[in-house]
Amino acid sequence: MSDRVILLDTTLRDGEQALAASLSTSAKLQIAVALERLGIDIIEAGFPVSSPGDFDSVRQIAATIKNSRICALSRAVQGDIDAAAQALNIADQFRIHTFISTSDIHVESKLKRSFEQVLEMATGAIKYARNFTDDVEFSCEDAGRTPIDNLCRMVEAAIKAGARTINIPDTVGYTTPTEFGGIITNIYNRVPNIDQAIISVHCHDDLGLSVANSIAAVEAGARQVEGTINGIGERAGNAALEEIIMILKTRAAHFGVDCNADATELYRTSTQVSQLCNMPVQSNKAIVGANAFSHSSGIHQDGVLKSQNTYEIMTPESVGVPRTTLNMTSRSGRHVIKHRMGELGYQESDFDLDSLYQRFLKLADKKGQVFDYDLEALLFMQNQQT
Ligand code: KIV
Ligand code: ZN
Repeated sequence: MSDRVILLDTTLRDGEQALAASLSTSAKLQIAVALERLGIDIIEAGFPVSSPGDFDSVRQIAATIKNSRICALSRAVQGDIDAAAQALNIADQFRIHTFISTSDIHVESKLKRSFEQVLEMATGAIKYARNFTDDVEFSCEDAGRTPIDNLCRMVEAAIKAGARTINIPDTVGYTTPTEFGGIITNIYNRVPNIDQAIISVHCHDDLGLSVANSIAAVEAGARQVEGTINGIGERAGNAALEEIIMILKTRAAHFGVDCNADATELYRTSTQVSQLCNMPVQSNKAIVGANAFSHSSGIHQDGVLKSQNTYEIMTPESVGVPRTTLNMTSRSGRHVIKHRMGELGYQESDFDLDSLYQRFLKLADKKGQVFDYDLEALLFMQNQQT
């Protein structure tokens, strides 16, 4: 089994479809360039049959991006596959991603067909897509709620029809990590031709488990993970790729697998996606939130000043955040104030630490957070009085 996890980013497809307003083609191109720089293996650029604007942006991205493979989505019908192929064929190499639902509820209530008919539609679509490219991905929509016998039958048939990546989505974010890992293990144990395909996972965050489920799947042998930057996507969103990347990198020894991403691009990419999509990142968001590398309690601040890894399991620089922040509040010790004054360019002989610290505490009690300009003002007042 490969020791590399392929990353498929679907910010521009599953992420974009959840935004209040569609992104312009130039915004999508900007995001695609950022994803390429981040080292994403496959960029799912859109769903070309859905609108002329989506078709054009997939085509422009396919014409521009050279170091990531571009992929487009299609339902399991020929018209969608034709549109995807026409949008993508400007690229040297591309992927067509086709999907159909496999759970009982979707097959009966949404598709209003039998499972046998759905099986036929899926294999027909995969064979048709193979006329345009060798790289066909097939997704069993709502796999998380699909009876395992049906799921294994569908996976086996899809591989026979020519799909080389089989995606197992937890479309409604219903499963738990143990269950979802178990689904992947079952597929490995029961599908006879599974060695001819890569198993991919695509998890949604309705119960806040999308990242945990994706990681459980990697532990069970999945070698492609799909997600979005900042976890944007339908309803509660998709698995956040910045978290997946940093879990694989920070715990590489535990997993024994890595990915191609250049993690130092994460913060920049996250900021760009947040701004272009008009989707603020919550301040306590793992990896890229404003507080992810800021320390508030006095004990933590003291520890970090002595050795950063007392309270940080990765450095801010490793994800492209300029540096650790120590919030200056009434919980901060004098050590922090001395350190910050040093960073602001003052020598110890420039100020009386005890007196400055007492004034700092009084101000912090009044204001909550004290900023650099407050420290400068306190020092100025102290100098005026001496
Ligand atoms: O969540 C899902 O099932 C999807 C598929 C189209 C892959 O987005
Ligand atoms: Zn999805």
